[in-house]
Amino acid sequence: MTNELTHIDGLAYVIYRSSAVDHLRDEDLDDILISARARNEEKFVTGCLHYEDGMFFQWIEGPAEQLRQIIDLILKDERHRDIAVLGVGALEVRRFQDWRMRFSDRKNGSLMDWFACSEISTFDRKEYIGGVVTFLASLKV
Ligand SMILES: Cc1cc2nc3c(=O)[nH]c(=O)nc-3n(C[C@H](O)[C@H](O)[C@H](O)COP(=O)(O)O)c2cc1C
Repeated sequence: MTNELTHIDGLAYVIYRSSAVDHLRDEDLDDILISARARNEEKFVTGCLHYEDGMFFQWIEGPAEQLRQIIDLILKDERHRDIAVLGVGALEVRRFQDWRMRFSDRKNGSLMDWFACSEISTFDRKEYIGGVVTFLASLKV
């Protein structure tokens, strides 16, 4: 997956879904965000992380090489598992320009409820991924 990033010049994005380990505590979430935001700032990486029902959804964007380095760390992180990469690609303009890593959870909005009210088929991969991106971009955090 990070191979795809080596073929991109300029800005790139990755979107993935993963499951938090069962014993993840609030303090673990705080630690993740503290280190994520510090490193993202250093590497000019931005994005958002949504946490709901024990699942993470993350959109992360930045210069392709820096993004690849960060994704390598994220993939090895033992605080989550079953990481499913939903998309990787080149990007013209950042979606989360002002966020080192925006965080949202069910209090901000529910992806599951949003899908339930939408016309989107979660069985269609393209529609599902598009739905996740639209939901993340629509949240007011
Ligand atoms: C769901 C999830 C999202 C993460 N997002 C980021 C991120 O956006 N940027 C980042 O540098 N680290 C992120 N991390 C943390 C990295 O996996 C890794 O633990 C961290 O970069 C290590 O930094 P440290 O050695 O400075 O503590 C994330 C971890 C998890 C579990």
